[in-house]
Amino acid sequence: MITPHLDSDPVPREPMIAPSLLSADFARLADETQAVADADWVHVDVMDAHFVPNLTLGLPVVQAIQKVSPIPLDCHLMIENPERWAPGYAEAGARTGTVHAEACTDPRKVARDLRAAGSLAGLALKPGTPLDDCLDVLNDFDLLLVMTVEPGFGGQEFIAEVLPKVRRARELVETGHLTLLVEVDGGINADTIEQAAAAGADVFVAGSAVYGADDPARAIAALRARAVAAAR
Ligand code: DX5
Ligand code: ZN
Repeated sequence: MITPHLDSDPVPREPMIAPSLLSADFARLADETQAVADADWVHVDVMDAHFVPNLTLGLPVVQAIQKVSPIPLDCHLMIENPERWAPGYAEAGARTGTVHAEACTDPRKVARDLRAAGSLAGLALKPGTPLDDCLDVLNDFDLLLVMTVEPGFGGQEFIAEVLPKVRRARELVETGHLTLLVEVDGGINADTIEQAAAAGADVFVAGSAVYGADDPARAIAALRARAVAAAR
């Protein structure tokens, strides 16, 4: 099987939009993935009520969404013991499995297992976690998720103080020190996406800004247009 590592995939030049199902109607998840079919990935926030003070959904629900989603799943695992649980999401067919650096005891092993099971391996950092804490392991990952809110809840305000971390990651990619996608998650909307795009993010998660809009497809198009303009 050919695994979808970034080594073999060209890094996309166009910004990617990943609507977060956290702000969707959980009773209509199949329809809600269809509503964002124009996006690149659908972002799935898995929370275990231990790593974060909130509980959302787990592997059986992700397996069900995987069967019906028109676009790939971007699984953000806000869970303890990712070594034990993360590979199951890759085995379910998710495009990405992203674990938190703060929860990992052996991030390289998680990355290896995620890739072996066929997904991109992502590492997420809370707003207060410095990039330097994990620079040595990032060579084993395909994606860096920079949290721009404290993980746990949708609808929070964007923390602009995190942007230097996005800029630094972009520099490391541009200078060839890292090969990965830079994703931002939390408080991304029509006002904040330009700052994040100018700082160098590739993938933009947006929950309330997409599912809170009257027309999610239009909201995605508007976010994409702003990100494209700001990235130039
Ligand atoms: C927060 C989640 C985010 C959240 C984003 O822990 O990781 O994905 O759903 O929601 P908004 O875009 O509303 O901040
Ligand atoms: Zn998320």
